[in-house]
Amino acid sequence: MLRFLTAGESHGKALVGIIEGLPAGLHISVDEINRDLRARQGGYGRGARMQVIEEDTVEIVSGVMRGKTIGSPVSLLVKNKDWQLRNEDQLAGITVPRPGHADLGGAVKYGLQDIREVSERASARETAIRTAIGSVAKQLLGEFGMTLLGWVLEIGGIRCGPVPLDLQDLRNAVDQSPLRCADPSVEKPMMDAIDKAKAEGDTLGGVFAVLAHGVPCGLGSYVHWDRRLDGLLAQALLSIPSVKGMEFGEAFANSAKPGSSVHDEILYDGVFRRKTNRAGGVEGGVSTGEAILVKAAVKPLPTLKKPLNSVDIYTKVPVVAHYQRSDVCVVPAASVVGEAVVAWVLACAFCERFGRDELSRMKEGFQASLDRDPFTERLE
Ligand SMILES: Cc1cc2nc3c(=O)[nH]c(=O)nc-3n(C[C@H](O)[C@H](O)[C@H](O)COP(=O)(O)O)c2cc1C
Repeated sequence: MLRFLTAGESHGKALVGIIEGLPAGLHISVDEINRDLRARQGGYGRGARMQVIEEDTVEIVSGVMRGKTIGSPVSLLVKNKDWQLRNEDQLAGITVPRPGHADLGGAVKYGLQDIREVSERASARETAIRTAIGSVAKQLLGEFGMTLLGWVLEIGGIRCGPVPLDLQDLRNAVDQSPLRCADPSVEKPMMDAIDKAKAEGDTLGGVFAVLAHGVPCGLGSYVHWDRRLDGLLAQALLSIPSVKGMEFGEAFANSAKPGSSVHDEILYDGVFRRKTNRAGGVEGGVSTGEAILVKAAVKPLPTLKKPLNSVDIYTKVPVVAHYQRSDVCVVPAASVVGEAVVAWVLACAFCERFGRDELSRMKEGFQASLDRDPFTERLE
């Protein structure tokens, strides 16, 4: 079983992640993790903090020797270059919760006197370490021919047109775009919309997609609710701060169509395939063998330079919400985090089915499953 924990506050010393259950013998590229961390920090619309931090980098603290996993827990560290919590007592307490954040609910739940004690952990800064963990998961999946890509579909209601169908072309387009958007014709209107929102002290949301190629048929399960791959992917995506909705394939559009125009007919040409992939690669909680395609709705960010009304938790007097430096739009960054969390869920489901203590044994088991036709003897 694969599992992870993260720890760390937004302006604390560092973020920490521990991954347990990786097979021994997996080569871990720190450069690849750092490339994903860089992608998460970028994207037009991010605020001043990312410039202060300059560049997140990961340090592997344990579980890897000579560049490869050794079966023991892998721990990762990402330092906060703008560490502020050295002198907590000198920081002014925050007593006005921001609508749209965990501020009020968190202070009530834990009985915290200073809202900073909520926001330091509730902050999406935590997604930096989850991106690093997802990057490790992607490296494991890569050993079995799986590749993932997250990109932006929509910002502030401005939607991409058709994007390249070939994964490499799509990746090139996304990598070249300051918005991780594969349709250059909408980049300028999107950037103008972000600039306008910034000038007005406002924020913008949008939609991102994550595509996972090469996922074998049969990951996840229909036998129990908490083993369904669709449910696990939904949970992972909705755990990204600001993600408020998701769909598989064309789920929302499909809901308005008759079944005959929605379901993906089955073909066989040496392997089972589908004529279309409207389901987004999962049926009955199990992967179909087609690419997994999920989309996620990102709400406009709740910290507003022109703040909304709130109430001081001590005086109960109405006041405007607290403001601190903040991003204007994080849909590009969220698409990188989305790619990471989808990779993690797929790595867990893959290890559940093909996991072994050693990577080489996993590869043997996986290859044997590809070579074996489970339907050779017809039942009478
Ligand atoms: C990469 C990333 C960066 C974020 N940066 C900000 C930010 O600068 N300001 C802000 O108000 N919200 C930001 N958010 C969103 C908030 O963290 C999130 O809306 C808040 O924690 C409440 O959680 P919820 O939206 O999931 O309910 C960011 C989200 C992500 C994924």
